[in-house]
Amino acid sequence: MASLIKAVRGTRDILPPDTALWQFVENASRDVFHRYGFQEIRTPVFEDTQLFARGVGEETDIVSKEMFTWEDRARAQSEKAQSLTLRPENTAGVVRAYIEHKMGDAGKLQKLYYMGPQFRRERPQKGRYRQFYQIGAEVLGPPPAGSESPARDAEIITMLAQLLREVGIKEWTLQLNSVGCANDRARYNQALRDALAGVKDKMCVDCQRRAETNPLRVLDCKVPEDQPIIESLPKISQYLDEPCREHFNEVKKILNHVGIHYQVNERMVRGLDYYTRTTFEFTHGGLGAQSALLGGGRYDGLSEALGGPKAPGIGFALGLDRFVLALQSEQTVGIPDLNPRVYVAPLGQGMNAEAAVIARDLRKQQIPTELGDETFRPKKSFEAAERSGAKYILFVGENEIASGQFALKDLKTGEQVSLPREELAVKLKSAG
Ligand code: HAM
Repeated sequence: MASLIKAVRGTRDILPPDTALWQFVENASRDVFHRYGFQEIRTPVFEDTQLFARGVGEETDIVSKEMFTWEDRARAQSEKAQSLTLRPENTAGVVRAYIEHKMGDAGKLQKLYYMGPQFRRERPQKGRYRQFYQIGAEVLGPPPAGSESPARDAEIITMLAQLLREVGIKEWTLQLNSVGCANDRARYNQALRDALAGVKDKMCVDCQRRAETNPLRVLDCKVPEDQPIIESLPKISQYLDEPCREHFNEVKKILNHVGIHYQVNERMVRGLDYYTRTTFEFTHGGLGAQSALLGGGRYDGLSEALGGPKAPGIGFALGLDRFVLALQSEQTVGIPDLNPRVYVAPLGQGMNAEAAVIARDLRKQQIPTELGDETFRPKKSFEAAERSGAKYILFVGENEIASGQFALKDLKTGEQVSLPREELAVKLKSAG
């Protein structure tokens, strides 16, 4: 026998009825985004590797170890192979598209959202996959359009709190920080480097390397023995210049006024290098080790790092896989009912054609309808109807066609009503 082929480690199939829950989150997100003035953007799933190297940062875990990258063979011998990468995140792609299509020339804020798969070669575990799905949004534009305003940061966070409320996730915590501007970070990196010089030998090998290459990343370390040292390191807040400090204060002031609770977490520097000023994460207790439901922040220099115009921005991405896990752990919403309302059972030879018309008409009237087969005996039709999850069964036989009266039977209660053809839809649409 041929050997079985299975889904690749770190990837998975999302099957019904779970897909209904995924659609529920997608629909709720679209709905909230439209109310906040966002429109959809779709960018390619793979991009030039340089986009992520320059956008996300060479020294990040994502770029240094987790990307699915390949040399794409040239079609002609004369052409050079190109290094391509499956997108590990979508912000760099959105900013590339913003630059490429000169979207800044419109002189307004671009408010864009996206949904789709992302790829990172991480060690798979609950809530962490190699192909995972993000829903995200970005606001960016030229500074005169107001792209640097702290009002945008607070608005994005307010929108997220709204989305969480609307999907029914209650157990979340918002962690907030400011990582300052590029100058602040350079000074802070130097301070960290100095502070780490004397102690790094006592830390894990990753931290020893990070202390040299990218000291900020030391703050991400989860190794328990390293924690006391990390706690004693200088804090980013001491290195923010006056405009960054004011920006952060304004974001906090608006959030306080809107009534959104947050915890300032000075160690939350996020795993991507493009961040400036505000960064945030929403975490959820029901998710275990992979507790980050979503993350985001400001990236005021990203467009310029990619060769574009000045286009400050802020955005976030939520992990759809984790959103669904959180919903399931809170059990606040059930899986939406996508079962058929009625199972149309043709009874006897020649009835497939009659039943096809009836089923088509019911579906036209927005009634989810399942359709059987005339070769099924009544007992088999009942069984098929029950398996389909339908609420009612409707037999279509010669007698029914001749009399124009149809028996509609409730599969659970056994209750049966006889109705003329034109009244079937009304009955099926009524509650119960
Ligand atoms: P990120 O924090 O790397 O940010 O990812 C955002 C979210 O994606 C995480 O909070 C998590 O829920 C989900 N996620 C990340 N990796 C995995 C994985 N391997 N399996 C399952 N879920 C995962 C970004 O990607 C930024 N682009 C967000 C952003 C947008 N910042 C500004 N604009």
